[in-house]
Amino acid sequence: MRILFFGDIVGNPGILAVSDVLPSLLKRFEPDFVIANGENATRGFGINYRDALRLRECGIDAVTLGNHWRNRSSIDDFIEELDWLIRPCNVRNYDFGQGYATFDVDGVALTVVNVLGTAFMKEEVNSPIVSVQDVLNDVSEGIVIVDYHGESTSEKATFAYYFDGQVSAVLGTHTHVQTNDARVLPQGTAFISDVGMCGPYESVIGFEPQSVIRRLFYGDAPRMEISEEGKRCVNAIVLDVDPETYLATSIQTLYLIDGKERQDA
Ligand SMILES: [Fe+2]
Ligand SMILES: [Fe+2]
Repeated sequence: MRILFFGDIVGNPGILAVSDVLPSLLKRFEPDFVIANGENATRGFGINYRDALRLRECGIDAVTLGNHWRNRSSIDDFIEELDWLIRPCNVRNYDFGQGYATFDVDGVALTVVNVLGTAFMKEEVNSPIVSVQDVLNDVSEGIVIVDYHGESTSEKATFAYYFDGQVSAVLGTHTHVQTNDARVLPQGTAFISDVGMCGPYESVIGFEPQSVIRRLFYGDAPRMEISEEGKRCVNAIVLDVDPETYLATSIQTLYLIDGKERQDA
């Protein structure tokens, strides 16, 4: 069973970057299931109904979220309808939507879980370990892919080792920077600290650099901009999981710039 997972999709350039490369990636890797993190899909903050549908229509089967999941309160109106849109499972005081979803992929159950980390994050959340253990108690069997949305690489690695052998993969998101540590852990869980992002390449984690400099250092920019111009990158993971043991057999990173493999500068 092959799964393709895209890191945080940032704004319209991110959606276009993914929709442009997806047909060739589907042909090249023939994934059985496609997941993307969409927490930044609408102008960098949250996701609206239209952009959620755009992601689905370009070939993504499930969309996970993160700390920006409710930047747009309109999500309350459609998160129940879109049963492939998955918010963090450990948020507090929110009853809409779902923190995980199970899909039937060629007769194999595939569960996608989204969970928020705690280190350097502002959100008040329940324990990621307890929350994901609760999900595993509900899900009797099958492939389990955890999108661990957090700032700290060590927290994500600690979580992955804790659940090594119990889930198929722990894929980090949120930092928007792809890490060089993708591997299958000793008990068969695939892991990467961060998948990276899809969006403008010449950017500060997706945002136009000058607007970020003005906002962060001088405080005179009303908001961080997303440039529609320039190169676009796509960061993703190709994951192979044994459909009988539900453990990972390989994990491979993808880093494309305008559709071509990145060459080290
Ligand atoms: Fe993000
Ligand atoms: Fe995030």
